Amino acid sequence: MITTLSVLAVILVILSLPAFFMIFHSRFIKKINSQNQEIIQTKEKLQSYLQRIDSLVLTLKKMHKFSVGATGMSSKEELSRFVLDSCCELFDSQSGSIMMLEPNSGTLKIIASRNVAAENSNAVENLELRLGEGVAGKVAQEGKPVFIEDIEKDPRFVHLPDIRYTSKSMLCAPIETKGKIAGVINIHPDAPPVINGKSAVFDDKNLHLLAILTDQVAVALENIELYNNLQKTYLEMVESLAKAIDAKDSYTHDHADRARGYAAAICRELGLPESITKHVEYAALIHDIGKIGIDNSVLEKSGKLSPEERKKIEQHPIIGAKIIEPFSVLAPIAPIIRHHHEYYNGMGYPAGLKGEEIPLGSRIVTIIDSFDAMTSDRPYRKAMSRIQAVQELKRSANSQFDPGVVEAFLRTLEHDSSQ
Ligand SMILES: [Fe+2]
Repeated sequence: MITTLSVLAVILVILSLPAFFMIFHSRFIKKINSQNQEIIQTKEKLQSYLQRIDSLVLTLKKMHKFSVGATGMSSKEELSRFVLDSCCELFDSQSGSIMMLEPNSGTLKIIASRNVAAENSNAVENLELRLGEGVAGKVAQEGKPVFIEDIEKDPRFVHLPDIRYTSKSMLCAPIETKGKIAGVINIHPDAPPVINGKSAVFDDKNLHLLAILTDQVAVALENIELYNNLQKTYLEMVESLAKAIDAKDSYTHDHADRARGYAAAICRELGLPESITKHVEYAALIHDIGKIGIDNSVLEKSGKLSPEERKKIEQHPIIGAKIIEPFSVLAPIAPIIRHHHEYYNGMGYPAGLKGEEIPLGSRIVTIIDSFDAMTSDRPYRKAMSRIQAVQELKRSANSQFDPGVVEAFLRTLEHDSSQ
């Protein structure tokens, strides 16, 4: 039997259902919203991680490029320019400088700079700081890197008159080799880095990165010093050989020194790199080393040579190349020595090479050798004047000599006489 109370209960249940669904629905929506927010936050975190990974990979790539490049430099100046450009790229900067400590004066001097000052850059390049003086001097003295937000407000800053600086902030790190300060790197970032949309000052990570770079610069500097010492040893060895050749062939006394000077001048005129210039200089010094293997009676003969004697003399470039080839450091100059009597028209010896088949170093050495021979006294003739020798070089350009190298040589003679 259905009572009135039962009906009322059913009606109440029916009436309360929408409220129950509304509460359930509201909680469900809240949960969905909270999950959506979590998804959005996770997505943002992931994007931020990916950006950091991208930036890290980019930094690693730049650092790899830096370490590969820094190890291939052969002079302090070349290394400094490369390091400065690389650091500016890594720290998003357009300006900076590298200062090296002069061992004699004990002062820091700028060896490479980039947009340090908007004007009066001479004043910046002539800047000298004692240890402890200015920010760089202090960093060199204390051996610790620093970041300064506004250099002009820093009490250590040395303000030079009439200079408008291109950037106010500054990263400065010491370069240490063998436990001693060799110099400092100054980087002036255009603006502090932006992290999560906010401007941030450089932190320990940036300084740590710069410290890693300066460690690599130190290794590269030590390598350059070793390389220079090695070059000095090679040069001493080559000079001893040149003296031995001078002693053997009395008519060529001091010929080697003059030849080396001419070689360096021509290479500079032709814009050849330092590494090739060194080889040409060495070759100019010892190109006649093969004469060690030729009898004095033939070398010093004042009369006409017999065909056999001429054949012997013509062996000296081959003998010279064979003497040099076993020394790995001098091996690159062996081809220059082997072909220093080739003619541009192919009529020379020993291989009859023609034009650009002849190594450029040989084309340079043959001109120097001929000019020096023409302007030196011989037992059987007096030396030509420089003017006559120049005329002879011009006359034999294209036949015996490379015309381009003759022109370069004549320009160096003009510079020489105008000084
Ligand atoms: Fe020769």
